[in-house]
Parts: sequence; structure tokens; C-alpha cells
Amino acid sequence: MDTISSYISEHKDRFLQELIDLLKVPSISADSAYKEDTFKTAEIVKERLMEAGCDTVEICETKGYPIVYGEKIIDKNLPTILVYGHYDVQPPDPLDLWHSPPFDPVIKSTDLHPDGAIFARGACDDKGQMYMHVKALEFMTSKDKLPCNVKFMIEGEEEVGSANLATYVAANREKLENDVILISDTGMIANDVPSITTGLRGLSYVEVEVTGPNRDLHSGLYGGAVANPINVLTKMIALLHDENNHITIPGFYDKVENLSEVERAEMAKAPFSLEHYKKALDIDAVYGEEGYTTNERNSIRPTLDVNGIWGGYTGEGAKTVIASKAYAKISMRLVPHQDWKDITQLFKTHFEHIAPAGVKVKVTPHHGGQGYVTPIDSIGYRAASKAYEKTFGKTPIPQRSGGSIPIVSLFEEELNSKTILMGFGLDSDAIHSPNEHFGIWNYLKGIETIPYFYKYFTELHQ
Ligand code: BES
Ligand code: MN
Ligand code: MN
Repeated sequence: MDTISSYISEHKDRFLQELIDLLKVPSISADSAYKEDTFKTAEIVKERLMEAGCDTVEICETKGYPIVYGEKIIDKNLPTILVYGHYDVQPPDPLDLWHSPPFDPVIKSTDLHPDGAIFARGACDDKGQMYMHVKALEFMTSKDKLPCNVKFMIEGEEEVGSANLATYVAANREKLENDVILISDTGMIANDVPSITTGLRGLSYVEVEVTGPNRDLHSGLYGGAVANPINVLTKMIALLHDENNHITIPGFYDKVENLSEVERAEMAKAPFSLEHYKKALDIDAVYGEEGYTTNERNSIRPTLDVNGIWGGYTGEGAKTVIASKAYAKISMRLVPHQDWKDITQLFKTHFEHIAPAGVKVKVTPHHGGQGYVTPIDSIGYRAASKAYEKTFGKTPIPQRSGGSIPIVSLFEEELNSKTILMGFGLDSDAIHSPNEHFGIWNYLKGIETIPYFYKYFTELHQ
């Protein structure tokens, strides 16, 4: 396999250019104004998969954005790897915080990416990481080095909850049959500290609406005499955590998996500098649940966060008004064994219960999904670990992530297979934020590492 690095040196300019072209199309699944571009992106992915050597590639229509499915089956007796990724991206706003337009990719170097990084929405999440798999396939098929069968399933609705993919997976169990699922849609600790993601958190996402009087009121004539929905909503939100930053919803922690001291000690070995962490975010202190470290707070512990809050007058100048309504969007990150539907119900019951007289409360669930943990003694994990050893020269550290890819637990239920999360992004790559970027070194390292996963997985499978 020594030729993968020479193949990359020979073709890296084209690999970069192709990714840049893909990043120029704003496939924002959440915003219907980008419908055409999102459909167009599916077509581009299809074309690229054909060129990379798939035998067949199809655009599978759904009620929403299509799933691009491709495969190359070389021998039914050999194992099959199913690659999953997504071609949709998050909305880029707030636009004024971008240093260059989000869909006009530019290459700039940063402290952590001295060889340059591509700045664009989707560079890391997930076009860049998904495209590493397409280029790794190109190498394997063109150099006759594909050791097993491969299936690609690239969706366009990951950022909006994957509802149609769930239906597709349930309806296509046989077609999607595989021995392992491979995803690059997470991160690693640092370029010199490779890690493999062994866990994802679950998610429950809700929207709340608090209604007070039937119309907006003069805050002098009525203020202090009727419930102000914004005052009430913020107070209710404050009640959701106690003084130790534990979540106060009754039953919320009932099923939370408690890690043993040994497991926690193992986790604490991952290199981490609190000073760097604070400095990178320009904060003077970290904040969170009492009794847990920063890395525990963002991976093995459940959380509740307001993602957006609005109501009343926010325009220029001052307007004296008591709004009739106030709103918030709230996410709860969950850990293994917490069921997202149960948690959504617990939230709803509790939030309605703490509402004072004088307001009406409406809780609307959005989407959600279960968490995921993968064992580190599986063939898949061992193959991934060997692949990193080969290309990074270091054994990767298993690490649970705080993010969510809800479809992964569904893959396990429906397809009965484990997922290996080989992410090559860094937490500082600003996914979902302005100035999202992906290191060129990371992009090429991913392309280099993936074929070794195929090789070792096939060998270990025999
Ligand atoms: N790729 C991310 C998830 C991720 C990023 C996991 C980094 C681990 C490390 C994915 O695209 C994502 O953003 N997921 C959403 C949930 C989804 C249902 C909208 C999330 O985690 O907020
Ligand atoms: Mn993603
Ligand atoms: Mn995302």
C-alpha cells in the first residue's frame, strides 16, 4: 500500500480543487431557498462516485432530499464496508462574522493548520470528510487495491434530523447489508494526537412558547400587573439547572450510565490542557456540572442548553412593550441508555408544571435520537486502530464525543452492524460556526488512512 502516499502527492491539487467545487454549492438542507442547490449537490456526489469507480450509483428519491447510493461489489464472499456521510450543510449565518464568503472557499493557514485549511461551510462537516472516502475509493479502484466490497450511502438531511434516511434504511435492509459501517463525520484530539470516536451523545430538541396576555401591551400601563412572558420564560429556563448545574427535571438522570472510576481514570489520560481550552475560547473559567471534568461534561454527561431565545422588541432604539409571547429552542444532549422520547416527555411534563399562573406554555418536540457507544475490541475498531498506527505512527486514543449522529444507533438496530467513527476534524475547526474550515493536512491524512482500514478490516475478517 506504499503507493497511497505517492498517489496523494501526485493528485493532491486535483483532490483539493474537486472539494472546493463541491463546497461552492450551498446545500443548506434547513432552508428551502436552497432546494435546487441541494438537489444539484446530490447529482455532483453521484458523478464523483461514478468517476471514483463505483459499479452503480443511484439517486434515491425521498420525501425530502435524495440519498446517493453507490456500490462496488467485487466478490460476495468478501466483507462489505458501508460508508455513510452527508452532503447537506448547516446554514452559514451569522454571515457578517465570516472573514470570507461561506460558499466561496479560500485556503488560509492557522496556528493549528500551518499547511493551510479550506474555509467554507461544510469544509469539515461533512463535505470534506465525506469526500476523503470518495478519493480513497478512487485510489483503490484505479490501482487495483480494493480488498473488499464497498457501499456508499450519502444523505442530504443529516443536519435536519435524517427522518427520511430512517425510512430508507428500514425499507432497504438487504440492499444495505454490510459487515461494518464507516463514517468520517466527527473529530480527533489533535493532529499529533490521533483518536477514534467511540461514543456519540443522543439528542432531544424542543421548542417552547410562553404566552401571556392576548396582545402586546404598554409596559408602563400593564408592566408589573400581568405576567411578562419573557421574564417568565427566562425564569423557567433558569429553574432547569440547580446551583451545582445539575438538571432539575425529575427522572432526567434515572437511566444515565455511570462510568466506573477506572473508566473515568482511563478517559482522563487523554491529553488536554485547560489553559489552552480557555485561551482558545477567550473565557476566564470553564462552567458546568459539579463533580465532573471538562472532558466528562462534554461527553459522558447529559446537558441542557438554550440554542436560541426570542420575543419582544429587538430593533433599533427602545420600545416600551410587554410582548404577548416568548420563545426558546432547547437541546438536551443525552448519554447511552437515556431514551430521547422519554426525555422529551419528561421535559414537557416538567416545563408545563413549573409554569406560573398567568401564562400558557406550549412545548413542541423537533427531532432527536439515541446515543451510541462502540466497543474497542471489535474487528472494526482494531482495523481502524492499525490504520492510524500506520499513517500517524501512533496508536489512536478511544474518545467519546459530545456531538450526535442520531442515525448511527438506528443503523445498529436496523442493520445490526457496528459503526466505526474515523473523524479527522478538530474541535477548533468551527463546524456549525462562522469560518468553518478543514485542514488540508487532515483531508489528505484521511484519504491516506482510509485504504488501510479497508485492508486491515478485510484481513482481520478472514
Ligand atoms: N457531524 C456532526 C456531529 C458531530 C460533530 C459529532 C463532531 C461528533 C463530533 C453532525 O453533522 C451534527 O451536526 N449533528 C447534530 C445533530 C443533528 C440531528 C442535527 C448535532 O450534533 O448537533
Ligand atoms: Mn456532520
Ligand atoms: Mn453538523
